Formats: sequence, structure tokens, C-alpha cells
Amino acid sequence: MQAEQLTPAIGAKVSGIDLCEPLNPEQRSGIESLLVEHHVLFFENQPVTPRQHRDLAANFGKLHVHPVYPHDAEVEEIIVLDTGVDNPPDNDSWHTDVPFIESPPMGCLLSARLLPPSGGDTMWTSCIAAYDALDDEYKSLIENLTAEHDLAKAFPESHYGKTPEARAQLAAARKKNPPIRHPVVRTHPVSGKRGIYVNANFTTRIIELEPDKSAEVLGFLTSHVARPEFTVRWKWKQYDLVFWDNRLTQHYAFADYLPHRRVMHRATILGDKPYR
Ligand code: OGA
Ligand code: MN
Repeated sequence: MQAEQLTPAIGAKVSGIDLCEPLNPEQRSGIESLLVEHHVLFFENQPVTPRQHRDLAANFGKLHVHPVYPHDAEVEEIIVLDTGVDNPPDNDSWHTDVPFIESPPMGCLLSARLLPPSGGDTMWTSCIAAYDALDDEYKSLIENLTAEHDLAKAFPESHYGKTPEARAQLAAARKKNPPIRHPVVRTHPVSGKRGIYVNANFTTRIIELEPDKSAEVLGFLTSHVARPEFTVRWKWKQYDLVFWDNRLTQHYAFADYLPHRRVMHRATILGDKPYR
């Protein structure tokens, strides 16, 4: 396996491995350490079936079944993101995946199935690089704060409740996933590095601050993490497979390809409860 670093802050292209085949223990731990070092790994030409995709992801932990997104007909752990004119994309804002549960995902594996002729790139940002770039005064201001994350903010009824069935599913998802609190600054459980853990899609407020101050700090942090110096941008080819460390990164999917269609498959690997 070889890794080519793509930017100083984040991202490496990895070659010399076939992810359609079962991983041996050295390959598994090799990928895990590259992931912790580079935060996002890009593998090219990996035409995994949904079952192979699920089995690959299961090497790294228990898998999450999403309460709102549709899944593959046979493999419920594989989310199908099929966007186009009838289902416009809505991942064009910076976020981490599934922060609304007690132990949010450690990582996600996203496979490109069908791509528009151009556009539909994805960016990732390092929340560790973003935290490191804060001055000491700001770091101590946010050090012990706690934020609330809410599925309902990212999955509004206007987009996800268009039919009675969808509305019922969304209501059940909200009931099962009430707003939850996590530290604003979390420690990566493997590297011990610290990073910013609030995002524009799901984070509603900072508990310890008055509403105005909470909105100001959230506004600052969510725009700060998006500074280009902390990011990498990927132009997809069919069957690219991307593995991101979801603990201290965020991502943004360009919604610039309508009226064309774009289909992606995602596996979501559960992680640990965030701590300071
Ligand atoms: C996701 C997501 C990005 C993309 O799968 O969580 O935000 O590029 N998708 O489709
Ligand atoms: Mn996402």
C-alpha cells in the first residue's frame, strides 16, 4: 500500500490494495493508521458490490443503519444517495455525519456509482487543523463548552417529509433521536489530538452561552472550519471509494450538477462517545 499526501492539512491517495477482496490484518491496521494520519483516504477503481462495501466497512467497527436516508434493497447498512431533479442534493453545507447519537460514527466509506458529466465534487476539512489555527485565547474560551446537536435541524420536513410515509418515518426518527450534547472541543481517541466538534447542519446551540453569544461562537467556528487551507477537494471518478475519519473532519458535497443525476453509496461505522 502506498499513500500520497494531497494537502498539508488533510487527505491522501492510497494505491496498491484491492478493497473488493477481504482485508488481511496488516491491511486493516495499515488503513486505520493512514486514516488517523491523513483523515481522509482516496482509493481509486474499487468497484465494490453493496455486500463487499458493507463487509469492508465492518472491518473497522459496528455499522450504523440510518433512520432517514434510503438504503440498498438488500443491504440495509448501505445508504443510497440518489440525487437529481426529483431529489435535489442537500449536502452542500459543511457537516460531520450523524452527530445526533451518543456515539457518533468514527468513519464513513463512500463509493461513487453514477456521476454527472462534471461537478458533484466533495470537499473535506480537518477540524484538527482548524482548532490548531485558533489563538490561545479563543481555545480557552471554547475549552469547556458543550453543544447541542439535532437531527431535526438537518432533516427538515420540507425536504424529508414530502409523503405521508416519509413524514411518519421522519417523526419516528426524531422521536428516537432527541437533541443530544457533545463537547465543543473533542479529543481524537487514537491520536489524542483535539479538534472542533460543532457543525453548521446539526448544531443548534452552545448550552453554557446566552443565545446571542452562542450564535456568534457557532457562526465563527462553523465558518472558520471551512477555510480553504484546512481542506482537500476531490473530483470523483466512478468506483472511487473514500474513507473519512468522521470524528474530526467535516465534508461538503457540491450541488452544482442538476439536471444531471449522481448516485453514491455510503457505509457508516460507529465510533466512541466524544470526550474533551
Ligand atoms: C454523506 C455526504 C457527500 C457526497 O454521504 O454523508 O455528505 O459527496 N455525501 O455525496
Ligand atoms: Mn455527510
